[in-house]
Amino acid sequence: MNKAQFAVVGLGVMGQNLALNIANKGYSVAVYNRTDQRTIDFLNGPAQDKAIIGTYSYEGLAKVLETPRRILLLVKAGPAVDAVIDEIKPYLNPGDILIDGGNSYFEDTERRIKVLDDSGINYIGTGVSGGEEGALHGPSIMPGGDRVAWEAIKDIFMAAAAKAEDGEPCVDYMGPRGAGHYVKMVHNGIEYAIMQLIAEVYDLLRRGLNISAQELGDIFRQWNDGELSSYLVEITAEILKKTDPDTDQPILDVILDEAKQKGTGKWTSQNAFDLGAPTHAINAAVASRIISSMKAARVAASESITGPKPAFSGDVRQLIEAAKEALFASMILAYTQGFGLMRLASQEFDYDLDMRNIAKIWRAGCIIRADMLDDIMRAFERDKDLTNLMLDAYFKDIVVHRQGAIRHVITTAIGMGIPIYAMSATLGYFDSYRTARLPANLTQAQRDYFGAHTYRRLDKEGSFHTDWQS
Ligand code: 6PG
Repeated sequence: MNKAQFAVVGLGVMGQNLALNIANKGYSVAVYNRTDQRTIDFLNGPAQDKAIIGTYSYEGLAKVLETPRRILLLVKAGPAVDAVIDEIKPYLNPGDILIDGGNSYFEDTERRIKVLDDSGINYIGTGVSGGEEGALHGPSIMPGGDRVAWEAIKDIFMAAAAKAEDGEPCVDYMGPRGAGHYVKMVHNGIEYAIMQLIAEVYDLLRRGLNISAQELGDIFRQWNDGELSSYLVEITAEILKKTDPDTDQPILDVILDEAKQKGTGKWTSQNAFDLGAPTHAINAAVASRIISSMKAARVAASESITGPKPAFSGDVRQLIEAAKEALFASMILAYTQGFGLMRLASQEFDYDLDMRNIAKIWRAGCIIRADMLDDIMRAFERDKDLTNLMLDAYFKDIVVHRQGAIRHVITTAIGMGIPIYAMSATLGYFDSYRTARLPANLTQAQRDYFGAHTYRRLDKEGSFHTDWQS
């Protein structure tokens, strides 16, 4: 019997679709799932007539695979990954490759690589983005770990990955150890930021200007035909136009306004704080999801804590145009912050990340794919050590010229009492970054006043303390 060339462990939707995707590219795939019934249903359903074989134990899985074995785990991030590794390990040999394709925390990946080191089993931690559809038709894939192991899985991943418009596959080796999962974490942080920026623009236009969901859907659709062209803007247009079959209302009007989160955005902010990276938009997006989840408290407060009424008396067309420009510029600033964080992480963790390649593989397949990523890729081609995207002439010009739109949109929302925190935070980042002298001199003086923490001076070297009360 011919041995299978690849394996997928974990037949959730992502696992099933990736197995199908890889089989469709001409590879034979063995699958395993903790509960047998799911494997049976998969084989009798979507996997029928494909080069996919079912296995019902790790021993059985190991037997049907050609060596070195290439096994992709798609199980829930966290302890389940450790459990699978422990259970499958006795059936593997040195040189075999385990690939974790879930949203694992990068430090867990680093730990697992260390633990497996003695066994000779190679471990790849890879980000896979694109949701169910992406998994089936081509995700963006961000693998990190042993480079030799990468070479051994490269052909399959290149075949399975999304292809950008220039035909380039959206997968590349990110770097050693946890680099792949780190990049995926930041991808998700940027995803949170962009989703929140879009949500705020939707809120301002829908609630503040009373534009119908249908009409707003048309507006987002038009935006998506221009420079804002991106997956998240595209699906927003579709969501806005969708009607709830039960009530005949826009579906958005019946969806509970509590945002859930699995943790990747929060991890991005936490790590940014650890490394000292300014990720204002991502932090604001995480905080916005948190306050959204306090629905009962918000409903109660809305009855007693008053604010301005969302009534708009200005030029509607002008505000819609400004919203488009503001969203474009603030999306650029969200990517700017994400790439800035990865730059610091690359130094801190010796990942040697190539920003150009990251932008390149985010151009298609992933949730944050957008036309502007092509320009981000080019910016890093012009200068691979670019410290901040805003320093690239092309992006500088965009943000400098659109900052007026951001200010107009934010002040309008603030005047109406409509929260616009992520966009304000994004502008705060922009204004802080371009300000030569921030009020941190006062912060330093206060620290020295109450804690004798000392401060540095502009006019001479050294560390100084003032006797403030004398
Ligand atoms: C992707 C998505 C995917 C998942 C998020 C959702 O790139 O395909 O990011 O990984 O949908 O993890 O995250 P939250 O549940 O935290 O919103």
